[in-house]
Amino acid sequence: MPTSANSLAENRTCGEADRPQKWSKLHGDKETMDDHTEKRDYIELRPNVITVEEYLKLRRLVGWKTLSREQAQRALDHSLYTLGAYVADQPIGMGRIVGDGAVICYVQDLIIPPAAQGIGVGSLILEALKSYVESLRIEGTEMMLDLMCAKGREQFYLGHGFTARPTETLGPGMILYLTDPPAKNAQNEPG
Ligand SMILES: CC(C)(COP(=O)(O)OP(=O)(O)OC[C@H]1O[C@@H](n2cnc3c(N)ncnc32)[C@H](O)[C@@H]1OP(=O)(O)O)[C@@H](O)C(=O)NCCC(=O)NCCS
Repeated sequence: MPTSANSLAENRTCGEADRPQKWSKLHGDKETMDDHTEKRDYIELRPNVITVEEYLKLRRLVGWKTLSREQAQRALDHSLYTLGAYVADQPIGMGRIVGDGAVICYVQDLIIPPAAQGIGVGSLILEALKSYVESLRIEGTEMMLDLMCAKGREQFYLGHGFTARPTETLGPGMILYLTDPPAKNAQNEPG
């Protein structure tokens, strides 16, 4: 059951001193942690503070394409909203929202590094992102919240209310990668 960001924030009221220590244990050996609720109580969700270094590091930890610093910075700057999950000031996950804030928004870069997966952090961030988009929605109108699902993550998103396309009435999502033209083939070089 997803936990709201607010209730997590409220839970962070005592025992601050030993939290980093507990998390390092968790971080080093995920299997030793048996109480997911307790683990989630250590997490703080922070809007619009994730740094380009944190973003690049989280992407690296899940093996995603390397972005240039400039590209990553612009992506963060142009996001409607970013959300970082932190334990003892260390980022353990992120997600962001891009879009027009009225008709359509997209969930982008929902990233939980392997050491923190499976304990509810992704759900926590996704539910908070959904709440943020709902807060933008103009009353009486419909907002679309979309995402491009990574291979094998369908069940996770289905569990959070998303529909997998195509359906009987909806076509598939589509994509076009815009890149530099391919480098000239050596055979085409003069000489
Ligand atoms: C996919 C991802 C965001 C899920 O976050 P998470 O914190 O590991 O997931 P949670 O712990 O919140 O899991 C919530 C539920 O989804 C399920 N789930 C999580 N990842 C899943 C997966 N890959 N396949 C199927 N189910 C999954 C969990 O079993 C759990 O189910 P339960 O509530 O019935 O126990 C995370 O694994 C991740 O960042 N992966 C690498 C990057 C990535 O692929 N991001 C998504 C891009 S579209």
